[in-house]
Formats: sequence, structure tokens, C-alpha cells
Amino acid sequence: MSSSAHSDVAPIVVSDVVKRFDKVTALDHVSLSVLRGETFGLIGPNGSGKTTLIRMLLGLGRPTSGNISVLGRKMPSRQVASRIGYMTQSSALYNELSIRENLAFFGTLYGLRGRRLKERIAATLSLVELAARADSPIQTLSGGMRQRVSLGCALIHEPELIFLDEPTVGIDPELRLAFWEYFAQLNQRGVTLVVSTHHLDEAARCNRLGLLRFGRLLAADSPDALRARSGQQDFEQAFLYFAQQAETAEAGEPTPAAEKEA
Ligand SMILES: Nc1ncnc2c1ncn2[C@@H]1O[C@H](COP(=O)(O)OP(=O)(O)OP(=O)(O)O)[C@@H](O)[C@H]1O
Ligand SMILES: [Mg+2]
Repeated sequence: MSSSAHSDVAPIVVSDVVKRFDKVTALDHVSLSVLRGETFGLIGPNGSGKTTLIRMLLGLGRPTSGNISVLGRKMPSRQVASRIGYMTQSSALYNELSIRENLAFFGTLYGLRGRRLKERIAATLSLVELAARADSPIQTLSGGMRQRVSLGCALIHEPELIFLDEPTVGIDPELRLAFWEYFAQLNQRGVTLVVSTHHLDEAARCNRLGLLRFGRLLAADSPDALRARSGQQDFEQAFLYFAQQAETAEAGEPTPAAEKEA
């Protein structure tokens, strides 16, 4: 690896990013950094911009304004693709193909060949506990099993930066825990993760969390710091606190149309 020049640069730097779709502002002046070897969580209501942010970080679409740098490259960049893993919110699997064939497809796409590819398929099957079903077509699997295959496809090439968009939806509690234990192991090896979730127990396991609402980053800090800053015991309350802070700030802006409760 010849990336030592970038080794002390944060793997993700987002600077004042705005993303608009027609009239919708999906990201509204978002700035944040993600550090090497941490799990950075994204939480926020439906439509708050989590998937949009992840897609911009992957270089799938350009920001309307602002800058994104990933692994030392200004995005979008093709050069970092092989060093990144992505598990989408909706499945990207081939339903007629078996688990093994899907893993082989994604592995090949990421440049794995021959014995190395075989080794990685075997290791991934064991990681997601699906070795016994390796030759079953995806369409014959349960929803949670498919989710596990999707995770495997994102990890097959041992990327150093992984984006997981709601990776544990539909997964049973035991395996959910196993996923998070595995994420912590990846962190210890220096792998950086960005994970979106609606589960507050998962949010609590992240090193740092970004709270999104209407495309705005309300706060980005460790779970403990967020609780302390809000003076609240749990995240639900902490999140509401930051949301109310944002509303108060908006109401304080000099716009005659600012909504105020009677
Ligand atoms: N391709 C697109 N075209 C138009 N609008 C879009 C597009 N992608 C996202 N949006 C809009 O941007 C906003 C943010 O959507 P996004 O998918 O990022 O939310 P999210 O936080 O991931 O929500 P969820 O929790 O439901 O997954 C929404 O209002 C959505 O409708
Ligand atoms: Mg989403």
C-alpha cells in the first residue's frame, strides 16, 4: 500500500455539502469528518438525508455545492472504489444466482481472482453463517438471510472503508449483536464504518453519531457527549432536544414566515 501520505488524513471529510433534488433540499450545508477506525452512525427520521449522504460519499451523484473527500480523493473518484464496501438499503443481489455465485460476482467486480477469491468466499460464508446454504439461490432464502448475503457482498474484498445503510433491518436480535461485534473487530483492524440505523441501541454502539433532520446535521459527537450536551438520559430524548434547539434557532431567524406556536 502506498497511501502512507494520506494515513493521517481523516478518511472522510465533508465540507459544507448541499444536495438539492428539484425543490427538496436533501442535504443542507452538512460538514463533518469521520476518523480512521471508528464507526460513525447516522440517525434521523425517514427522509432526513442519510441515504443521500452515503450515496454522495460513495461518489454516486454530485453535491449541488460543497466538497467531499474520501480516502484522500475528491469525490466522485473512481480510484477509491476498490477500497470501499457498500451495503445498500435495498438489496442489490441477483435472485436467480446462489449465495456463492453472488459473492463470486461481487468479489470479481472488486478485482479478486483465483485462490484469493475462493478463500474470501469461504471466509465470508462463515462470517455470515451461511456456509450450509452456499449453493441455494437467493430467491429461496429468508429476508434476514438475504440481508446477511448483502453484508457479505460488501465485505468480500476486505475494504478499508465500509458504508452500511440500515444493515440490520429484518435481522434477528442474536445475529444483530453478532454483526455489531464484528463491526467492532473491523474497527480494531483500522477499518472505518459509516452505518445508518433507526435502532437506538445500535446508535449507542457507535463511536460517534451524526443526527440528521431535514437534511441538516444537528450534532455530531459521541453518544455520551450527546446525552451530556442535551442533559437527557436516552437518545430519543437527546434527539428531541437537538431537534427543538434547531427549531428555536430557525424561529429566531429574521424570516417573517417563521412558524411560532401560539
Ligand atoms: N433521486 C431522488 N430524487 C428526488 N428526491 C430524492 C432522491 N433521493 C432522495 N430524495 C429526497 O431526499 C430526501 C432525503 O432522502 P433520503 O433517502 O436521503 O432519506 P433517509 O434519511 O435515507 O430516509 P430513510 O430513513 O427513509 O431511509 C427525501 O425527501 C427524498 O424524497
Ligand atoms: Mg435511507
